Amino acid sequence: MERQGSVKTIRELRLALDRQAGKKIGFVPTMGALHEGHLSLVGQARQDCDVVVVSVFVNPLQFGPAEDLAEYPRLLDEDVTSARGAGADIIFAPAVEEMYPEPMVAKVRVEGLEDVLCGKYRPGHFAGVATVVVKLLNIVRPERAYFGAKDWQQLIIVRKVVKDFNLAVEIVAMPTVRDADGLAKSSRNRYLSPKEREAALVLPAGIQAAAKMIAAGERDAGRVIAAAKEVIAAQPGVKLEYFSIRGPLDLLPVDVIAGEVLVAAAVYVGRARLIDNMVIKV
Ligand code: PAF
Repeated sequence: MERQGSVKTIRELRLALDRQAGKKIGFVPTMGALHEGHLSLVGQARQDCDVVVVSVFVNPLQFGPAEDLAEYPRLLDEDVTSARGAGADIIFAPAVEEMYPEPMVAKVRVEGLEDVLCGKYRPGHFAGVATVVVKLLNIVRPERAYFGAKDWQQLIIVRKVVKDFNLAVEIVAMPTVRDADGLAKSSRNRYLSPKEREAALVLPAGIQAAAKMIAAGERDAGRVIAAAKEVIAAQPGVKLEYFSIRGPLDLLPVDVIAGEVLVAAAVYVGRARLIDNMVIKV
């Protein structure tokens, strides 16, 4: 299809998509500040679908009052160029008033999954994510929507919402994209000074340390977590929020490692809150 500039209104977007009737629509929801992780989702959508829509919307509903909503990077011009370069046809970049013309009183809650891991430290975050994702899926009406495995909890929550509400969309998960030294790509990496970026490497290192212990036969989750926490604690300038081993789908804590487990962690490095995870099969 003919490529267009960024579309600001739901009406404009629907008009553009109605002209593509019968075509397979792939959708990549983002908050912008696009990096190679996002672009891998766009690239996969390009391969799978006839029309690729990327949304760029910094969703206020998923930020807590003390979080980085105001300073979250907003780089629409760069995002339009890079999303197009990766194969996007339409960039949907609505204003907050377009998405939320009146206060949202209906919200999507995902009991059991939204209050653990990151949700324990970011109350309301996943209700904000689930709510905007449902809105965006209803607006775009894609056959497929693409999410990165770096935000594992978000991915599991979105999959559960889609299942519970019988939403007619296939959720496609793509692997975490990392820099050569192992740091997962994240829009929040932009907050890191060179020294902080170096220190942040302890996050993938802690997860790797856990993976190594598990590969070597350790099955006691408590011992693996304690060892990984020591690795992270030894790095000055990094504050651990959580390090956890859980079931990858139910996100319940695991005592004895068996089958597949999710090893997930969050740290603060300076003002950047960084997350990472690995799903390990034993
Ligand atoms: O992962 C993100 O960037 C956001 O949480 C999402 C899915 C675009 C919802 O705002």
